Amino acid sequence: MDAGSMDAEMDYSAPPYDEWDSAQPYEQWDHARRHCPVIREEGISFTDEPALHRFTLTSWDDADQVLRDWRTFSASINAEVMRPYMGELLLGLDGDEHRRYRNLVAYAFRRSTLERWRAELIVPVIDALLDGIAGAGRADLVASVTSRFPVQVICGIVGVPTADHEQFNEWSIRINYGPLYPEEGSAASQAMRDYLEPLVEARRAEPTGDLLSELVHAEVDGARLTDEKIYGFLRLLLPAGAETTYRAFGSCLLALLDRPGAMARVRADRSLVPAAVEETLRWETSVTMVARRATTDTEVGGCPVPAGSPVSIINGSASHDEARWDEPAEWDLDRESRQHMAFGTGPHQCLGMHLARMELEVGVNAVLDRLPNLRLDPDAEHPVISGYAFRGPPSLPVLYDPS
Ligand code: HEM
Repeated sequence: MDAGSMDAEMDYSAPPYDEWDSAQPYEQWDHARRHCPVIREEGISFTDEPALHRFTLTSWDDADQVLRDWRTFSASINAEVMRPYMGELLLGLDGDEHRRYRNLVAYAFRRSTLERWRAELIVPVIDALLDGIAGAGRADLVASVTSRFPVQVICGIVGVPTADHEQFNEWSIRINYGPLYPEEGSAASQAMRDYLEPLVEARRAEPTGDLLSELVHAEVDGARLTDEKIYGFLRLLLPAGAETTYRAFGSCLLALLDRPGAMARVRADRSLVPAAVEETLRWETSVTMVARRATTDTEVGGCPVPAGSPVSIINGSASHDEARWDEPAEWDLDRESRQHMAFGTGPHQCLGMHLARMELEVGVNAVLDRLPNLRLDPDAEHPVISGYAFRGPPSLPVLYDPS
């Protein structure tokens, strides 16, 4: 069904870029799932060729089918957009090439490998951030805690001096916005490489147990990562790991702050923290959509999709599919656990999902331990989760008993 044409009451088209941060797309996606789960929109052509239509998928079944079938729906579209800024991109490869590359970096993100970072890095980072606000009795938890936490953890895991994390963050934001501001994106991409080069060379000579050391020495079936792949992976890692987890952390805290009953239960029984995190990831994932391109004439949900068509998979909407969950828009601490799609699925399923879960669980526990009587500031504007492609609360003004 063409966007906007099927139902005069609902326009399915994406908001203009400058409204993405404040957008509230779930009403649109909920409507689409019920009335037209595969949306077809006019594409834009930059050549004499007519533009291909773009397809947007909103149901669980269609999202699941497309993300698992890499032969028919290629991830190369991610490389087309980001290669000039990120270089050789794991997220843009298919098939064997993707599997070989992923095998070389996957070891560092296994649950068992990550366990060492919990006490060595994740707990000290969140404790230091909370030390900074515990005595104040009031804070914006996004500005002071959630937005600073995962970026420092990633820098620590990679082996970048923590003192440089702000510089690193700034480059990664510019690289991310490369498609919109190519000059700045390319400059940041080169600057990050220049900065990393001596670190990579040092680890080559003498491994120190961090991720950089693992990347330069990793070998599977005699294959090693090329320098281009190492830099490409590092350029992806920061935005993939920092921008995403901090938003989910804010959404999880807001879910609890808005529900004092659930907050009291979780505070009293910490075995409920994983359920609170998992339900938040289902209910309000920070990454709502991923992209693929059809490699051949095919069909999804009964709609013909011509070869070459770009396809947006709304994984956020798939996790709200009422065919899978009752009252999916509700955050329910007691909901029976079932696989959601916050981390995608298929060969590109999030490499950092165990790290994200660990950071969120440690983070929520630390906030509850260190900020007694935590509640929303009644004099501040009530925070809301917003965003089109990335979602989270832009601020979380809270009060607590100073300690
Ligand atoms: C709540 C936090 C996170 C969310 C919601 C999230 C979401 C996602 C999603 C949906 C994908 C699939 C993309 C696709 O299929 O096109 C993905 C891939 C990926 N994520 Fe995450 N992510 C999170 C945290 C992290 C962290 C902490 C890291 C690393 C430190 C990370 C690293 C990656 C990488 C490297 C990929 C690409 C995997 C591949 O192409 O094989 N993510 N993530």
